[in-house]
Amino acid sequence: MKSPWWKERVFYQIYPRSFQDSNGDGIGDIPGLISRLDYLQWLGIGAVWLCPVYDSPNDDMGYDIRDYRKIMSEFGTMEDFDRLLEEMHRRDIRLVMDLVVNHSSDENAWFVESRKSKDNPYRDYYIWRDGRGGKEPNNWSSFFTPSAWSYDAATEQWYLHLFGEKQPDLNWENPKVRQEVYKIINFWLDHGLSGFRVDAIVNIKKKLPFKDYAPDRPDGLCDLTVMKKEVEGIGEFLGEMSDLIFKKRDIFVLGEVSNEREGSLPDYIGENGYFSTMFDFAPNVFGKSEKGWFDYMPVTPDNYRDCCFTSQERAKNIGFFANFIDNHDEPRGINRYLPDHDLSLESKKMLATVYFFLKGIPIIYQGQEIGMENRGVVPLEKIDDFSAIDQYYVSIDAGFSPEEALEIISKYNRDNVRTPMQWNAEPYAGFSSRAPWLEVNPNYPEINVSSELNTPGSVLSYYKKMILLRKNLDYANTFTYGEFIPFHPDIHNLMAYYRSGDKDILIIANYQKDARTIMLSREPKQILLNNYDKFSLSNLELNLLGYQALVLEL
Ligand code: GLC
Ligand code: CA
Repeated sequence: MKSPWWKERVFYQIYPRSFQDSNGDGIGDIPGLISRLDYLQWLGIGAVWLCPVYDSPNDDMGYDIRDYRKIMSEFGTMEDFDRLLEEMHRRDIRLVMDLVVNHSSDENAWFVESRKSKDNPYRDYYIWRDGRGGKEPNNWSSFFTPSAWSYDAATEQWYLHLFGEKQPDLNWENPKVRQEVYKIINFWLDHGLSGFRVDAIVNIKKKLPFKDYAPDRPDGLCDLTVMKKEVEGIGEFLGEMSDLIFKKRDIFVLGEVSNEREGSLPDYIGENGYFSTMFDFAPNVFGKSEKGWFDYMPVTPDNYRDCCFTSQERAKNIGFFANFIDNHDEPRGINRYLPDHDLSLESKKMLATVYFFLKGIPIIYQGQEIGMENRGVVPLEKIDDFSAIDQYYVSIDAGFSPEEALEIISKYNRDNVRTPMQWNAEPYAGFSSRAPWLEVNPNYPEINVSSELNTPGSVLSYYKKMILLRKNLDYANTFTYGEFIPFHPDIHNLMAYYRSGDKDILIIANYQKDARTIMLSREPKQILLNNYDKFSLSNLELNLLGYQALVLEL
């Protein structure tokens, strides 16, 4: 059987608002993106996941869609979009986009109709309930605001929104809604798209009838994860969508699935699963707490390794995870998975190495490949991410001072990764000719594409080497299909594993600043990758420098 096209490609995630501005309005756009395609081709990227470019009032930066069939005017036109596709295909780069159908914008024509009256034909496109004595229908909190319900005076009922207030949840129990969603999917596939990243999809099924859960915070609300553990039957919706639409085409579907039910991994990513793959969120959710960002725990090197290895074991003989360290919702991986004060060219490359060669689909988020870092602490009025602002008040309510609250949110603020792409050392990092919608990280004179492009020791050069290696015909098969076998998972601050297929490869990383010696069990034939110039091995004793990472052919 021919292997699907997506298994051997390296994916690159683009946050269009921050990638490249072409018309000097400070906002990235599609013509800007087109002008950077040569760079992606040079890097060896095989597919792009483009964050939402649909018409939106941008309450949640495009994850609140007003018109599913229109391009956001700030980003360009449908003609620009068609040109983008053409230019990508000319470079053998596939395009995958977000499918955001757990909710729409409250400005979407369906919701505008739905809220008009209780007997409007679109009423049941959303989820409306009576309140309880002037209060919310139940005590669910939302991911972004205190309550998951908002009151609408016109019909004196409440609508459900698991995310922001301007993101009402679509009612998937209504077959008409599902038909509409399928039409949207087909519209874009017919347009030439190669697939979707399916946003927040495990939220489409709600536990009915609506009821209260035990409160887990002072305001009497409860976290949604409690409900999500109880809910059953999501497979009816996902199975239908997959059978009617996804399976009929040669496309790539990446599910944003978090805490799926025990034992259900085969349903999602198995041979006949709903999706091609889903994110491995294990390292990402590690140490998080429903209380809020103030209660999150740092991730140690051993935690990081154990999370990745557990996922690798879970997916064994089932399917492929999509592996990433950065995305548009999280702080930079290098800031989260490397100990504070240990950020260096070497440690950045080491972290890159250990995740990139895991079994699965590797995804690189824009700027990761040049070592872009968190933006850090900024004053409240400069923060754009509304979930960060919400968490500021959550921290204040928990008793932290304003300074402490700012410090806390600076670690997880989504703006950290949404600052403009750093192309060069010119004003605004070459992203735009004027002050961009979100301030450029002040470190751009040192960290940028142009200074790293032809510098052999740069993070960018290293990423390029990694990508070339993964695609090298002698090794691609092993990196794609080869078995994952942990190497000494019990050694503190060591992250090492074999990939074993037609070749035997050892990926080994010293996840600490102190040098150390590790005994190998076999003599390496060849060094495929090294984040240092030095390599020292005698009688199977491998000397590793601080944060040294090696890819060795055995
Ligand atoms: C997903 C997106 C995030 C968005 C949310 C609501 O988690 O990645 O950016 O805010 O869904 O659509
Ligand atoms: Ca622009």
